[in-house]
Amino acid sequence: MSRSKAVPAATASESASPLITPDGELVMRTIAMPADTNANGDIFGGWLVSQMDLGGAVLARTFSRSRVVTVAIDAMTFSAPVYVGDTVTCYASLLTIGRTSIRIKVEVWVQRDPERHRRRVTAGIFTYVAINAKGKPHPVKR
Ligand SMILES: CC(C)(COP(=O)(O)OP(=O)(O)OC[C@H]1O[C@@H](n2cnc3c(N)ncnc32)[C@H](O)[C@@H]1OP(=O)(O)O)[C@@H](O)C(=O)NCCC(=O)NCCS
Repeated sequence: MSRSKAVPAATASESASPLITPDGELVMRTIAMPADTNANGDIFGGWLVSQMDLGGAVLARTFSRSRVVTVAIDAMTFSAPVYVGDTVTCYASLLTIGRTSIRIKVEVWVQRDPERHRRRVTAGIFTYVAINAKGKPHPVKR
């Protein structure tokens, strides 16, 4: 039995306005694969969150200059589905730096054949804590 699934054309609400562009630095780009699907055959939200978490950590580490761990994920919104074969790109931007914590906004944009234009599908705020070799928080130099 074929696992392939017809991909619907973008609805008006899924299509990003040409005036909206990704906010932040490109930190992760990959292709959504069949192994990443949920029971409906669309891409599993948990997979997207893990890509965002990794992408946000890439930026957080440039500020901490050390390992970081994720302490909180807030304001997650899934505004449009992601399909197998979509090119998935994460953009990250710094919101705030605390004593040991770093808050990063992460957006996910996809490009889908045949349209190829980008659309934003997911966003969230990830808080990381800089940790030392013992796994304890350490101050982030500003
Ligand atoms: C993250 C961790 C090291 C923090 O340890 P802790 O002893 O609670 O440290 P603190 O209470 O000093 O908090 C450290 C920072 O995290 C922030 N923080 C703690 N809980 C938070 C929460 N729920 N939301 C947002 N920020 C939080 C604190 O405000 C503090 O920030 P600041 O130093 O900039 O003011 C510890 O909770 C931990 O190891 N958690 C597990 C992390 C993990 O496994 N993540 C998943 C895989 S990466």
